Amino acid sequence: MYFGADYYPEEWPRQRWHEDAHLMADAGFNVVRLGELAWALLEPEPGRYDFSWLDDAVALLHEHGISTIMGTPTTTAPPWMVDLDPDVLRVDENGQRMVYGSWGNFCLNSPAFRLRSAIIARAMARHYGGNEAVIAWQIDNEFGVFDRARCYCERCAEAFRKWLRERYGSLAALNKAWGTSFWSHIYTRWEQIPIPRRTHTKHNPGLLLDYARFCSETTRSYLQLQAGVVREEAPRQPLTHNFLAAAYTHLDLFALAAELDVAGWDNYVPNARWVDAALSHELFRSLKRQPFWVLEQQCSYPQWPPYANLERGLARLLTYQGVAHGADGILYFRWRTGLIGAEQYHAGILPHDGRPGRVYEEIRTIGQELRQLEPLLAGALPRAQVACIVDYDSLWALEFQPHNDSLGDPWSYHRPWYRALRLQHLACDFVQPAGDLSPYRLIIAPALAVVSEEAVRNLRSFVENGGVLVLTVRSGSKDVHSRMVDKPLPGLLAPLAGATVREFDSRPAGAEVAIRFTAEEWAEEEARAALWFELLEPEGASVVARYGSGLYEGGAAVTWQPVGRGGVLYVGCLGDEVSERLLPALLRRSGVRAPVAIAAPEQVEVAIREGPAGRAVFLLNHSDAAREAHLQGPGEDALTGERLNGEVVLGPYGVRVLRM
Ligand code: GAL
Repeated sequence: MYFGADYYPEEWPRQRWHEDAHLMADAGFNVVRLGELAWALLEPEPGRYDFSWLDDAVALLHEHGISTIMGTPTTTAPPWMVDLDPDVLRVDENGQRMVYGSWGNFCLNSPAFRLRSAIIARAMARHYGGNEAVIAWQIDNEFGVFDRARCYCERCAEAFRKWLRERYGSLAALNKAWGTSFWSHIYTRWEQIPIPRRTHTKHNPGLLLDYARFCSETTRSYLQLQAGVVREEAPRQPLTHNFLAAAYTHLDLFALAAELDVAGWDNYVPNARWVDAALSHELFRSLKRQPFWVLEQQCSYPQWPPYANLERGLARLLTYQGVAHGADGILYFRWRTGLIGAEQYHAGILPHDGRPGRVYEEIRTIGQELRQLEPLLAGALPRAQVACIVDYDSLWALEFQPHNDSLGDPWSYHRPWYRALRLQHLACDFVQPAGDLSPYRLIIAPALAVVSEEAVRNLRSFVENGGVLVLTVRSGSKDVHSRMVDKPLPGLLAPLAGATVREFDSRPAGAEVAIRFTAEEWAEEEARAALWFELLEPEGASVVARYGSGLYEGGAAVTWQPVGRGGVLYVGCLGDEVSERLLPALLRRSGVRAPVAIAAPEQVEVAIREGPAGRAVFLLNHSDAAREAHLQGPGEDALTGERLNGEVVLGPYGVRVLRM
C-alpha cells in the first residue's frame, strides 16, 4: 500500500525539507509525488536542465524511507514556451486564445508543445530511469480538466478535418453520415467543416460526436507520445495518470488507461456525494481490473465552494472509501498549504505555518492503521458479480442531446442503478459493451444509445449463457454517427428486449409518475419515475410494470423477456426508486448474493475486499451522526481485535474494518 502526499519542495527553503521528510516518515508515508508542476525549474531555458534540486529532494526523502512518483511537468509550461511559439496556447469554444498563466492551457495538437513535452519527458526519464527511489511516473496532470481536452484553434480545426478525411474518405460519405442536408450544411470542400466553436444554436450531432472522439484521441496520442518516451528511458518504472472523477466525460478513460500500467484519479468529490465517489473508485478499478491509485485525495479545505474544512474524521472516511474499493495508493493533496501562488487557499495536511496539527494527526493515525491492515488487504480486491456497461460514444451522444435539463450529465442514467447496487453492498465493475462479460451474472447497460452489432452479439451471448441483462431508456436509439436509427427502439437491441418503444416523453424534474408492478415477485411497492418515460409495446416480453398515471397511464413501463438461459429486463423509465425496487428481483434471478449479510442504514456504506487473508469488510458511515449496522454473523474488528456480532456502532463519519 502506498501512502503519502503531493509534495512541492520547490516552494520551501531547503532547511525545511529535513523536517518535512521527518514528519512524513513519522506519519507512515512511503511515497510522495513530485515534479509535476516544476517545468520552469527543471528546464529554465530550452535545452538547459537543472535536476540537482530535485535529485536532492528525491534522495533526502528516500533516506527517510519515502519513494517518489515522478510527474512529468507538462501540465504547466514555462513562459519561454510561449516566446518560442505563441500558438501553443489553447483556444476556447468562443474562439479566444488563452493568455499565458494558470495551468493546463496548452494545445495538445501543437507540434511545438508536443516536441517540447517529449524532450522534457525524455530528459527526466533518462535522468531518473535508473533511480531506485523513483517507483513510478505520473504522465502530465489531470488530462481533461477545464475543457483542456477540447481545443478550438485553427490547427486543431485542420487536424480534425484530416481525421475526418481518414475516417470518411470522401465528403459524400461524411455528408451522408452526418445528414448534412439538414439546415443546408452539405459540405463541398473539407475546409468548410467547422470546429464546433460556439454558435447561437446547436451544431450537427454527428459533427459533435466526431469532435468528441477526435479530442479524446488527441489526448490519448499526446499521452502515448510521453508514455513511449518514458518507457524507452525508464522501462522498469510503471506509468500512471491522475484523471478526474467519472463525471468529467471529455476522455474515453478505457482508451487512455490502455496506455498506462496503473489507473489513477484525483478525489475531490464531497462526502455529500459519496455514492458518486464510490462510482469513480470502482470505475478506476475497472479500467485495468487492478488496484488503482488516488493521486490527489482532498484532506482539508478546498479553494472552491463550499470552502469549508472537512469535518473531523472525514479525511479518514474518504481515505478508507478508496481503500475499500481497491485503491492501493493514497496520496493527499497537498503536503503543506502554500504561501505563494494562486492556491494559497487550498489546504494541505500542514497549515500555512507548517506546524503539524489536527489534520496531520488524523493522517498519521490513518498511516498507522493502514500498516496494520496490510496483511489483510494484500492481494484482496472487491469481487464483482455485477457490471455496468460504459460506452463513451453513448455518453457523448447523450451529453450533446440530453433532451432534458436534468439529464445534462450523461452519467445520470447510470447513477440510480449504481446507487441501488451500492445500497445492497454489491461491488460493481464497469465494462465496455464489447468487453469480457464472462465474470458477471448481472449486467446493467444504462442508456446504451450507440450500439454496434458486435455489442449486441456480446450481450446476447451473455444472456444466452444464463446472464441477466438490464436495458434502459434511450437504448439503441443512435447509430455511430449519432443519427436516430430508422427502427423501432431500442433498435438493434429490440429482439433482445422483446419489446419496442411506442413513444417516449421527457419531462422536467418534479413531474413524477408512479409505476405499478404487475407481480409481487418483481416488487411489492410502486415506484416513482421521473424525467424520461417510454411507452413500451411487448413483442414477446411480459409486462413487469405499468404507468399508474400521466400520458401513458395503463401502458407498459417495464418488460421482461427470457432469452436462452437468462433474460432481459427493459426499463422504460428512470428514477432511484425504480432501480431500487427492481434490483432485489434481478439479484434473485441472476443468482447474485452479497458476500456477507449486513443490515445497514442508507448512509452506511458497506464494501468488501476478498483475498488470501480472508474478507475485509469496510463499514463507512457517511453521516454526521452515529449509526448502527447489524452483522448477521461473527466478525472481528481488524484494528482493535474486538469480536463482533449483531450490532456494530459507528461514530459520526466513523469507519470500521472487519475481518469476516
Ligand atoms: C487539482 C490539481 C492540483 C491542484 C488541486 C487543488 O486539480 O491537479 O494541482 O490544483 O486541484 O486545487
